Amino acid sequence: MATTFDAVDELGKVVTGSAIIGTSVPRIDGPLKTTGVAQYAADFHFDRLVHAVPVQSSIASGKIKELDASAAEKMPGVLLVLHHGNIGKLYRVVPNDFSATAAEARPAFEDEKIYYWGQYVAVVVAETLQQATAAAKAVRIEYEAAPQSLKPSLGDYAGKRKSVSKRGDVDKAFAAAAVKVDQNYITPVETHNPIEMHATVATWDGDKVILYETSQGVWNHRLAIAQILGVPRENVQVITKFLGSGFGGKLFPWPHSAMAAVASRQLQRPVKLSLSRRMMFSNVGYRPRCEQQMKIGATADGKLVALRQDYLNQTSYVDDVDEGCGEATPYLYSVPNLEVTSALVQRNTGTPSPMRGPGAVPGLFAMESAMDELAIALKMDPVELRLRNEPVKDEGTGQQFSSRHLKECLETGKAKFGWDKRTPAVGSMRRDGKILGWGMAAASWGAYRFGSNATVEFCADGRVCARSATQDIGTGTYTVFAQILHDKIGVPFDRIEVILGDTALPEGAMSGGSWATASSIPAVLGAIANAKRTLMQMAATTEGSPHWNSDPAKLELTSGLIHGAGKPFQTGVPFEEVVKLGRLSGITGEGKTVSTFEDPKAKELSLHSYGAQFVEVEWEPDIARLRVSRVVSVIDAGRMINLKAATNQIMGAVVMGVGMGLLEQTVYDQRSGQPINGSMADYLMATCADSPKIDVVFLDHPDLAMNEYGARGVGEIGLAGVAPAITAAVYHATGVRVRELPVRIEDLLKSEIREA
Ligand code: MOS
Repeated sequence: MATTFDAVDELGKVVTGSAIIGTSVPRIDGPLKTTGVAQYAADFHFDRLVHAVPVQSSIASGKIKELDASAAEKMPGVLLVLHHGNIGKLYRVVPNDFSATAAEARPAFEDEKIYYWGQYVAVVVAETLQQATAAAKAVRIEYEAAPQSLKPSLGDYAGKRKSVSKRGDVDKAFAAAAVKVDQNYITPVETHNPIEMHATVATWDGDKVILYETSQGVWNHRLAIAQILGVPRENVQVITKFLGSGFGGKLFPWPHSAMAAVASRQLQRPVKLSLSRRMMFSNVGYRPRCEQQMKIGATADGKLVALRQDYLNQTSYVDDVDEGCGEATPYLYSVPNLEVTSALVQRNTGTPSPMRGPGAVPGLFAMESAMDELAIALKMDPVELRLRNEPVKDEGTGQQFSSRHLKECLETGKAKFGWDKRTPAVGSMRRDGKILGWGMAAASWGAYRFGSNATVEFCADGRVCARSATQDIGTGTYTVFAQILHDKIGVPFDRIEVILGDTALPEGAMSGGSWATASSIPAVLGAIANAKRTLMQMAATTEGSPHWNSDPAKLELTSGLIHGAGKPFQTGVPFEEVVKLGRLSGITGEGKTVSTFEDPKAKELSLHSYGAQFVEVEWEPDIARLRVSRVVSVIDAGRMINLKAATNQIMGAVVMGVGMGLLEQTVYDQRSGQPINGSMADYLMATCADSPKIDVVFLDHPDLAMNEYGARGVGEIGLAGVAPAITAAVYHATGVRVRELPVRIEDLLKSEIREA
């Protein structure tokens, strides 16, 4: 009775049993994607499907005086024009309710007020996309403009500030500090640009709607849309089988989803609403501009005594989104006197939303830039400054760290990068006719485990199926599930089926915050254990089973074979034989994850991932060319489940960090409020040519407070710290300190170094 272990790593090496955890396993959904079989939201097509195209406001502030759809309604193929006057009742989602969150507080067409350029004012539905597009242009709207607030700078804000974290007397300690840095750091609006654009396909059957969505959280999407439509939640099903990423822009539903649902209900036909790339820049979130005043004071030998971070972030007039720039500040370093304050500044732009590493990523740009400036003021190596301020506990909460290895990240990175060869003087390092700059920064990101559920089924046909309403954003969730099943059950991958991305399945975790893996593991392991228990019972109580009348506690499952404990597994019986003998279609077990916030042990711990980013830039002063040439990224994120997928995550995040450091910035037209560079041609992102050589190193310290495997999850941590390490390297190469991202050629031309 031969069994196949056919989980194969990327080199084609067969991987067996528990070795599958932590190795490089190619994505099991890869072939579906590369062959075009995988269906993304906008790929769903149905008989009688019609197309919806939104009409967007051409002003940034004011109201609609008159909306005349009569010409559009008479155009060929047009079936419906929805707007404030005829959409019917839509509801808001309970604010701050963790059980359902919409991205924008107000539903579509709530009233006639305009709060930002591009806001949806109508939606045209027609037989073809071309007809709908033409008719959308024919909707005539007269506006009454009101004063608008579009100024990028937030600096003249004079209102109240919220104290986010506080200890000691920071102002007194700062005043008395021997060495100080007091600077303002600015990060611009950045727009998520996943390859797959937002889209909804809505189909009604009686009083039930199915939404094919591109969602990082189908369960939340369902709850929020049910509230917006005012229908029972069980009448809404949300399906997202594949995502072309999201970066946080797809965590919560945007107004277009309900627009498609209402249009479909009114017409009793399937409706497809697919956003244009330009709409992606105005209607579905962005990382807001942040301005952070940092004050850091230290003793002459580099011990921090005071740390103050006062940040402002842009928000809209339709919601109040706090970027949370102080996420990492209270726990990253040891400092007795600290305060973080925040305030939101409204602008007539769409509503911001989380974008990869929200809060911590811009927050660490300010914090780590200020640390680099402090190291220079102290004439101290910047790595050494971090090492000297390592805390023994989380000084923000007083909690112990579950597992913190920042020092090892710094030391490993230093060695891998060759940091000892660095000469600290500006412009002092050269290679091949170029000036080199070397910079570094520390990184951190929260570790979370959210409540989630899964089932695992031993099927009569020999397959093992796992089900959960989480989704695979493209990062490898399908494969991680399969690895866990292979580890615990041992059947080959071609007998493992992972079913995700559908609210018909048990509620799973959002694909956000780098928490999907950590949140899913306990649920899957629990489901396996429960299914196994029933399977062993069946093996021991089913007549004809070779284990009939055995003690189920003395049975084991190896390679899909049920065998007596201590006996060679090859003597066992395939589990499907037992399922069949019992005349069952399958044996299912359920598993549940308790969130870290409800777990008495985990909630007493400070749970975070850490990292160190080391960056090399090449500067050619005579032609003003700057390139990030090399990055060493050392990550402490617990145990990796899939080394390949995790490495991909960090590499992608580092490339995004190059974009954040040197390229990305959304600019609004100060007259109209329209994003000027709202296209893939005009919005600069890092491409292959901009990508450095990237060396990803994972420390392997399982964090057992998270789950049995010790996985915290990766993604966002790889972006944290990259931008400040780049600007530190830029300073080292050019002598120019850039405190407002992105670094522009105009900044670099200020360099006094003229020749390499
Ligand atoms: Mo991430 S910003 O939580 O998708």
